[in-house]
Amino acid sequence: MQHEQELMATASALVAPRKGILAADESTGTIGKRFAKLNIASTTEMHRAYRDMLFTTSGVEDFISGVILYDETIRQESLGGTLFPKLLAEKGIIPGIKVDLGTVELALHPGEKTTQGLDGLRERLAEYETMGARFTKWRAVITIGSDIPSAACIAANAHGLAQYAALAQESGLVPIVEPEVLMDGDHTMEQCEAVTTHVLRVVFKELIRQGVLLEGMLLKPSMVISGKTCARQAGVQDVAEATVRTLSRTVPAVIPGIVFLSGGQSSEVATAHLNAMNKMGSHPWQLSYSYGRALQEPALTIWHGDEGNIAAAQAAFYHRCKCNSAARTGSYTAELEQQF
Ligand code: 13P
Repeated sequence: MQHEQELMATASALVAPRKGILAADESTGTIGKRFAKLNIASTTEMHRAYRDMLFTTSGVEDFISGVILYDETIRQESLGGTLFPKLLAEKGIIPGIKVDLGTVELALHPGEKTTQGLDGLRERLAEYETMGARFTKWRAVITIGSDIPSAACIAANAHGLAQYAALAQESGLVPIVEPEVLMDGDHTMEQCEAVTTHVLRVVFKELIRQGVLLEGMLLKPSMVISGKTCARQAGVQDVAEATVRTLSRTVPAVIPGIVFLSGGQSSEVATAHLNAMNKMGSHPWQLSYSYGRALQEPALTIWHGDEGNIAAAQAAFYHRCKCNSAARTGSYTAELEQQF
């Protein structure tokens, strides 16, 4: 395959020791919702100022290997006048880009979703490559509920993920394949394990069928966790064991890394889960992070759209990056958490 060496090198660099990925690829709608909760005006200039605050935080390059950008951000300049992908690359951080166009209702399947964005994707990938992106992300969403997920929903999403991954690799861009099993609902951790196991099996079958180079991609799964409104919430060790068991049963050992999403877990819990998994010993793949909310939430709350809060917000962001970096080696502790 063309680009094979480059894909493998980029995928490994993204899961380098002690480092993980920052997902800062919220769509205009999603960042609008996060800003609205804090009464921050959702304008392109405020998005730019916010991303500038995150990306210019001194020293995060020790903990962050790559940043996933959104289409708006990859075209923007920092407040200092450097295009964001260039600013990141100069810090030794690999720029990436979300390339799906969001989810829509799956036809004939109420309550289920499929992801849009395959049409014209080859051309968009070529443009992003010229803008400095080296990796990409595509998110598919699976909902647990009564009689769902359906086989149709899993098949449609697995197909989309695999087609996307093949196109990304054709362009020399590492695909991050993200099948997210949502935390929404009252399902148990055991139900989440059964669904996640099945979804990952179907996704890998399809990736292999489409000829995707497994050594040149990363998997971004949700953790195996109790539904948000489940009365019996599984503890940290149970989540870690169920997640590692599920991944061991489904993810080929040649995948260089698994980079979790946080999915609505609190920042500290997301770090604790990753830490517990890495404490269990060595695994065939690197176990790392590609968190959005769990890396950003404290910093966003402190920043609040106010220039005067930048230093404090950056300190909070740096701290979350440092804690998650420690979780890569199972050395995150309550003491470290409190050192902020
Ligand atoms: P969260 O960590 O907030 O779930 O975001 C990760 C992500 O990229 C979702 O697509």
